[in-house]
Amino acid sequence: MFYNNPFSGLTEIVPPLAIQGFTILMVGLVILGTLMDIIHKKNVKYFFNNAKKAKKNAKIQLSTTQKTSVILKTVAHDIATTAELGRGKRRIAHVLGMYGTIIFWITSALLIFSFPTAGSSTPSSITIMWHAGAIITCLGGYWFWFFLRVDVLAEAHPWYRIIQADLFVLALLACATFGLAWSFTQYSGMTGLSYLFLILYIVSNLILFGGVYWSKFAHMFYKPGAAIQKNLAEADGSRDNLPPPAEAPQQFGLGIKREQPKHY
Ligand code: HEM
Repeated sequence: MFYNNPFSGLTEIVPPLAIQGFTILMVGLVILGTLMDIIHKKNVKYFFNNAKKAKKNAKIQLSTTQKTSVILKTVAHDIATTAELGRGKRRIAHVLGMYGTIIFWITSALLIFSFPTAGSSTPSSITIMWHAGAIITCLGGYWFWFFLRVDVLAEAHPWYRIIQADLFVLALLACATFGLAWSFTQYSGMTGLSYLFLILYIVSNLILFGGVYWSKFAHMFYKPGAAIQKNLAEADGSRDNLPPPAEAPQQFGLGIKREQPKHY
C-alpha cells in the first residue's frame, strides 16, 4: 500500500485535470474562508492597530538585522515547535498533527500535479511520505481528540461530545483516515469499498477546506503572526502595551501545589 499512488488509480475514471482543478478549488476555498474570517472578526485590523500603538511605546528602535533575527528565532522555535504549548503531551501531539498534515498536503500536491498518471513508476519516496504523513496526522490528532481536548481532560465531557469548535480537528482526521482507507482498499482491489472511501475522502476535504470560516483552520496563519509580533514587542521593550512583570516573588500559597489547575 505504501508504494501505491492512489491519485494515479483515480485517473482511470477521472481526468487528471479534474483532480488538479479540485485541488486548486480547495486552495481557493481556504483563501476565501480566511478572508471572510478576517473581515468578520476584524482580528487583523485589531492586530495592526495594536502593533502601531505598541510601536509608540518602544524603548529601543530595532534595526532590520535585529528584527530579522527575532523573526527567524520565532520561526525556528515558537512556530516550528509550537512552543506556546509548553513542554508536554499537548505540544508533542500538536507537532505530530502539524507536521503530519504538512507532509500529507505537500506530497498530495506532488502526486496530483507531478505524477498524476505515473502509476507504479511514481517515486516510492513520495508515496511513502504521503501515507506516513496521514498516519502521523492520525497519531497526533486522535491522541488530542480522545485524551487531550480541554473538554475531555479538564471538564470531564465524554470524547464523543461534539461541538462546532471540533470541526477542524475532526475534518482533518477524517481526511487522513479516509485517505488511508481509500489507498488501502484501492491497492487491495476492493473496488466497491474503495469508491465508498473515495467519496468520504472528497466530502471530508470539502468540509475541511470549505469550512475555514466556521472552524479553527485559520489559526495556522494567525498564530505565527501573533508569535512574531509578541517577540518583536518583547525585543523593542513595548511589551504590547502591557506592564513589565512585577519584581515581587511569586507567592501563591501552598494551595497551588495541591492539584493541577485544570478545572477551568
Ligand atoms: C499545518 C499547520 C497546523 C495544523 C494542521 C494544526 C492543527 C491543529 C489542531 C488539529 C488543533 C486542535 C484544534 C482544536 O482545539 O480542536 C490545533 C490547536 C492549536 N494549534 Fe495548531 N495547527 C497548525 C499550525 C499551528 C501553528 C503554526 C501554531 C502556532 C505557532 C499552532 C498553535 C496551536 C495552538 C496553541 C492550539 C491549541 C492547542 C490546544 O488546545 O491544545 N498551530 N492545531
